[in-house]
Parts: sequence; C-alpha cells; structure tokens
Amino acid sequence: MRTAIISDIHGNLEALKTVLADIDRRGVDEIVCLGDILGYGPDPLQCVDLVAERCAWSLLGNHDYAVLYEPTNFNKAAKEAAYWTRTQLDEAAEQDPDSGNRRLDFLNRIRPRVRYRDLYICVHGSVRKPINEYLFETDVTNDRVKIQDVFRRIDDEVPIGDTKVCGRCLVGHTHVPGIFNWNDEDGADFTHASSLFGGSNSDDPLDLDDRGASEGDSEKDPFLVGRHRFAPDEKAIANPGSVGQPRDFDERASYAILDTSQPEHWIDFFRLPYDIDKVAEKIYAISELDDWLGDRLTEGR
Ligand SMILES: [Fe+2]
Repeated sequence: MRTAIISDIHGNLEALKTVLADIDRRGVDEIVCLGDILGYGPDPLQCVDLVAERCAWSLLGNHDYAVLYEPTNFNKAAKEAAYWTRTQLDEAAEQDPDSGNRRLDFLNRIRPRVRYRDLYICVHGSVRKPINEYLFETDVTNDRVKIQDVFRRIDDEVPIGDTKVCGRCLVGHTHVPGIFNWNDEDGADFTHASSLFGGSNSDDPLDLDDRGASEGDSEKDPFLVGRHRFAPDEKAIANPGSVGQPRDFDERASYAILDTSQPEHWIDFFRLPYDIDKVAEKIYAISELDDWLGDRLTEGR
C-alpha cells in the first residue's frame, strides 16, 4: 500500500495541482490530507474541491477551524485571510447552492484525528492537541518533557501488541518536513527530510536498489529529497511538510509517500517547484490578503 501524504495546502492551487500531478506520475493507492486546506491562499474553493475529489480523507487543521468556526491565536494577516475565505465559501454557496453546499458539507465532516493502517495516529498538530499544538524541531532540545509526553500518548493509543511494532504518528502544521524520533536512552531527535538517507544534506549516496525501486523512481530523481525506513520498534512522528506554504527556506512544494506494503515501512519525501509568481500575483490582487502572504511563498518561510 502506497499512500501519498499531503498537508497544509492553504489555498495554493498551483502547488496542489503540481503535487497531485507528481503523485499521479509515481502512482499510489491512496492520498490523504493532514489538514489546513484553507487559509492564506487565493484559491480555497478549488483546493477544497480537489481534496474532496482526490483524497480518501482530510483532517481538520487550525486554519480550517478558523474559517469554519473561529480563529484562535491568529495574527492580523491570518485572521483577515480566514474571514475572506469564509466569505468566498458563503458567496459560492449562494451563487451555486448545489456545489457550494456540497463543499460546505465536506468541510463540516472533516475530523480532527484518524487512525490509519492500524499503526498511524494522524492529526494536524499533535496527539495532545490535534488542531493547534506545534511540534517544533527546537522542542527536542528546549522542551524534552513535551516531546516525551507526546510519544507516551502515541504509545498509549497504539500499544505494542502481537505485531511487536510501535505506533507512530503523522502530523502537519509546522510546514517543515522530517521525522521526530524518541528512545528512552537518548531522548528526542528531529531529522529534516533533506538530511535523511539519500537526502541532499546526507553523506549517504542515494541507492534506490536497496529497497527495490518503485516505478517512477530513479537514482537521478531530482524531486526525491530524502527517504527513511522505519525499524519495527522505531518510535516516530513524521511530517510531510507543506504543499502550499513551506517554511524551511526551501520554496518548493513538499509532500511524502508512505509505503506500508512490506513489514518494514518506508517514507519518501519530495519537493517540487511550481509557479510561485502566479500565486503571489493572485494574492497581491486580493486586498483582503496581505501582500506578505505572497512574499513569504517566494522566500519559503
Ligand atoms: Fe498550516
């Protein structure tokens, strides 16, 4: 089973279409979304429709919550964008009740958490606070207690049973792709996707034959930035990064493919260039969306 994991689209249609085209080229069995379809970006309606059409399910992110219910701890630009997005949804439902209400029905059904493939607890933020809590890279040194508590809760939810396999977690929200690990001796660790095996910052050469390359992969694949094989007893939280608003100073759209077809699961991280200027121009043309929301796409932050 190959599952594409997308997250944090934020109304960025160009990035979403680019990612979906890459997913289609590689071939997966299913696509899932870890939330924040909405907020910040200029094409929320089209993004909701594509996620509803293409994804098996989507989670409730804090920006989806803000648009549907209320903004919580938002800065001015994020709050204004949420209200503008809400107006777009309402006006569309007035103009075309069939498609508009179908869209709202989909959004009203998205859940804060999903347990996936038995082992993976999926939330937008964290298992403690599914919608709003960030798991930052800096937490591994600055807030070890927080990370330990988060991993303990994953253990509680997916105890090691007869399979002797650890439960894991998939999250979005920080817009930074990578993997958190925990072990009782060394504590917490975070590895950015590009520092994983085969990643652009890794000393290891990318050798796809090690795992039996799947169709579409190649040793020169410029979009595969890192990959990781989960050991059966590995406690891990994986973040696919953000499709529509990366914040790790790499402006390319980010997503991941989780492969659970073998006893040892694999995750591949991809980065894709897309037409950022087109999205930024749309943002600049909408007075309710702060120009900074366009600028930050170019800067990847
Ligand atoms: Fe987000």
